[in-house]
Amino acid sequence: MAEKIFIGVAWPYTNGPLHLGHLAGCYIAADIFARYHRLKGDSVLMVSGSDQHGTPITLRAEETGVSPQAVVDQYRSSQLDTWERLGIGFDLFTTTGTDNHREVVQDLFSSLQKKGFIYEDTMSLPYCLTDMRFLPDRFVEGTCPNCANPSARGDQCDVCGKPMNPADMSHLRCRLCGNPPEFRDSKHLFLKLSAFQDKLLEWTGQQTQWRPNVLNFTRGYLKEGLHDRAVTRDINWGVPVPFPGYEEKRIYVWFEAVIGYLSASKEWAQLQGKPEMWREFWQDPGVRGYYFMGKDNIPFHTIIWPAMLMGYDGLNLPYHVPANEYMNLGGGKFSKSERRAVWVSDYLERYDPDPLRYYIAANMPEAADTEFTWEEFIRRNNDELVATYGNLVHRVLTMVYRNFQGRVPQPGKLDEEDQKVMEHAERALEEVGKHVSVCSFRLALSTAMGLAQAANRYLDAKAPWKALAADPQAAGTSLWVTLVAISALKTAMFPFLPFSSRLLHRFLGFSGEPEEVGWSLQRPEPGQALPKPEALFVKLDDSVAEEEKRMARAAL
Ligand code: MF3
Ligand code: ZN
Repeated sequence: MAEKIFIGVAWPYTNGPLHLGHLAGCYIAADIFARYHRLKGDSVLMVSGSDQHGTPITLRAEETGVSPQAVVDQYRSSQLDTWERLGIGFDLFTTTGTDNHREVVQDLFSSLQKKGFIYEDTMSLPYCLTDMRFLPDRFVEGTCPNCANPSARGDQCDVCGKPMNPADMSHLRCRLCGNPPEFRDSKHLFLKLSAFQDKLLEWTGQQTQWRPNVLNFTRGYLKEGLHDRAVTRDINWGVPVPFPGYEEKRIYVWFEAVIGYLSASKEWAQLQGKPEMWREFWQDPGVRGYYFMGKDNIPFHTIIWPAMLMGYDGLNLPYHVPANEYMNLGGGKFSKSERRAVWVSDYLERYDPDPLRYYIAANMPEAADTEFTWEEFIRRNNDELVATYGNLVHRVLTMVYRNFQGRVPQPGKLDEEDQKVMEHAERALEEVGKHVSVCSFRLALSTAMGLAQAANRYLDAKAPWKALAADPQAAGTSLWVTLVAISALKTAMFPFLPFSSRLLHRFLGFSGEPEEVGWSLQRPEPGQALPKPEALFVKLDDSVAEEEKRMARAAL
């Protein structure tokens, strides 16, 4: 039965270019998941957008001497370009800078305030006497009280992942001038998180589908007891606070960014010309919401956003939060500030999108951190995509093209080995689908590759090239059987490798697009005309690794 599925993907800050760490954190996983469900016939809404507020943007603006809007404009278009070229198929990738977003955020904010979940209090905050300003979030750095990381940011510690409260941190310093701040009182609005402690404990206790890393982090966090958190900031870049006396302040970036999932759904519905249609994904309790993100985003999606939704009442809570760990580079985190990164735009200048999608899916940090290396990228491209999958396709299509007048051969009676491959092809589709639907992307991909390996073994054993002259009927049968397996791969790989699957769909002589077929085995019809085959993937020279590393060093 067709399902309705909401997919929210973390909104990337618009303060720099995207690197491979971002892709491995959530974008590839979300797109695989969405493509599978769309193919299966489910109705999917996948939204995200540019996170354009908060101190990540204003800090970048201060550092480069331009306005926050200029920072946003600079990187917004490269985000859109990346999704387009990598085939990340959002139904809407908007920004937090729209009027619609402001209205939806202010409505939710006011509603929580009316219900008593947002209240005013005074708090003591770091203030820089040199810069003469409060130092919200990332404008202050210090030592984490939890893990002793000496350069934890004022909003969150990158090492242990805990949200920070500057008053609890030692060795505080201003990010702009390096001087230690003093503390001054400032009036703010607070989200009454403590009111949701019991409900959240009960709710998280039921989420057995969550990954262990997500469950453990969330439960550990809840066990320490939830504290109310300020949801306004002394900053002038962001969504205005809808209350008098707060003209000089803005809503905390995390509080409004998570509301983006809802505001983007409403914007999408408006763009469809059916402004009420967002309700189908938010108010029908049968709809499952999947939220994809990197591990540093977990508490905002398993505690803060659910608490806000519980307070607002009437909208679906997240069903699954398949957060990934990190994909590292050179032994450390991808880091914009340390300039340790492989930029997606650089990659796409030089190589095709599918090999990167493949590498990231095969090494997806689902349960533990993984590592990107160019050597491993080249190895997977050459040994797996080119030698196992691409070569299978190429040798079969070439043989058929040359020896069967460019038409799918007519099979004779199938023997036991033939039957086994046919069954494997059917089963692979079923199993890949099952694994994707529970967000086991690595297992899904290796299951699909297992079919390619089995088809290669079958082909080697049958050796149709030997039978061509003496027994063309036998050769035609094993080639047809392999074409069926290849067609299953075309579908099974589509969520992972949409570009090459689309090509393969054409190479197999099918009309239309793979999406029209759905998640089922499309058998090539005997007699079906095939175009002249071309390679699906390109072999990369080993020197590419050295060359890439040389260029990365030169860019430092
Ligand atoms: N901008 C945040 C980051 O890059 C993610 C925001 S996700 C959302 O870490 F839920 F707030 F949208
Ligand atoms: Zn820490």
